[in-house]
Amino acid sequence: MGGEATILVTGGTGYIGSHTVVELVAAGFKAVIFDNLVNSSMAVMGRLGEITGKPEMIEFVRGDCNRKEDLEALFSSRSFFAVIHFAALKAVGESVQKPLLYYQNNIVGALNLMEVMEKHGVTNIVFSSSATVYGEPKSVPVDESFATGATNPYGRTKLFQEDIMRDMNVANPAWNVVLLRYFNPVGAHPSGRIGENPKGIPNNLMPFIQQVAIGKRDKLTIFGNDWPTPDGTGVRDFIHVVDLAKGHIAALKKVQATPNLGSVVYNLGTGSGFSVIQLCEAFERASGKPIKREFAARRPGDVSALYCAPTKAKAELGWTASLGVDDMCRDSWNWISNNPDGYPDA
Ligand code: NAD
Ligand code: WQD
Repeated sequence: MGGEATILVTGGTGYIGSHTVVELVAAGFKAVIFDNLVNSSMAVMGRLGEITGKPEMIEFVRGDCNRKEDLEALFSSRSFFAVIHFAALKAVGESVQKPLLYYQNNIVGALNLMEVMEKHGVTNIVFSSSATVYGEPKSVPVDESFATGATNPYGRTKLFQEDIMRDMNVANPAWNVVLLRYFNPVGAHPSGRIGENPKGIPNNLMPFIQQVAIGKRDKLTIFGNDWPTPDGTGVRDFIHVVDLAKGHIAALKKVQATPNLGSVVYNLGTGSGFSVIQLCEAFERASGKPIKREFAARRPGDVSALYCAPTKAKAELGWTASLGVDDMCRDSWNWISNNPDGYPDA
């Protein structure tokens, strides 16, 4: 394997994790994926090998962050420069129904991970946080100094984990903690070989649009056309998953270059808001398929407009999103039209 830095990627067969592994290998890192496959497929591994052309740089270890013995075995047999911690459950509605499942999986999983990391002297972590931690912000664009306040158990797991990681750095300055607050990741790798295709009825907008486009669902229900936005539908900061993945490489490089980095937080978004209708129209242009839609009541817990000021990430990480909504729709369509049922063993 040579002298490349090895990065542990928990949740690495998932949607954002898999795209990040591609960028890790492109940047010269070796990736060890640790995943229990609760929401992903082993078929991802073959595709990562194909896309990168370097399957030897990517190892898969099946395991669960809730089983400390799995983490112990992993850390006892390998050394890591850093951990990117993606592994989590992420469905907002399900978290309201099953709060214990979310607190257990996401928070206890992170506690186990950090305990084992510290024991083995691995104290660099990059964490998947979320724009959801801003709750209902007082204004847009939101920057990292805005007040936080989650509105559901999933969001609270992100806030708690952020606090736990900051506390670890306070207690032991050897810890370097990069908290990345993602806005709305969409799109897929341009190869069309990896992407997002959730099981069951999609919670999120883009997977729903994709399923309408391929004829799996009759129409999209738009939750509210009476929001105080230009066309009355919700506005979000959609970010191409490949741009998002590159943000993790920028974070790792920051850790490599900065002794005693401490704990830092960055918004990862484009800084531009697009409405639900605008995204539908962009998808229609990219796919040539009509996205049939109807309006319904607002979804409980939704906010009107949410987009970020990505200036801190640009200034301190040298990272900025480069792909636009048309790229996101083109690559989402390429993925779903080539993989209408997701991965073969899903
Ligand atoms: P995903 O479900 O595709 O990936 C998560 C991966 O973690 C899956 O492969 C799953 O099998 C694995 N996993 C879950 N619990 C585990 C456990 N206990 N042990 C080992 N593996 C486990 O989700 P994603 O969209 O790629 O999200 C990745 C991270 O980014 C999550 O932490 C999520 O909360 C966060 N995030 C996602 C979004 C989004 O809209 N997709 C937005 C903001 C933040
Ligand atoms: C976007 C817009 C909906 C579906 C969620 C999580 C957040 C983060 C990203 C993880 C809203 C509208 C949606 C549909 C619709 N995930 N919509 N019809 O709610 O901004 O963020 O994913 O951290 O925590 O809350 O994303 O894609 O669900 O919704 O009209 O069938 O699309 O009302 O305006 P959201 P989303």
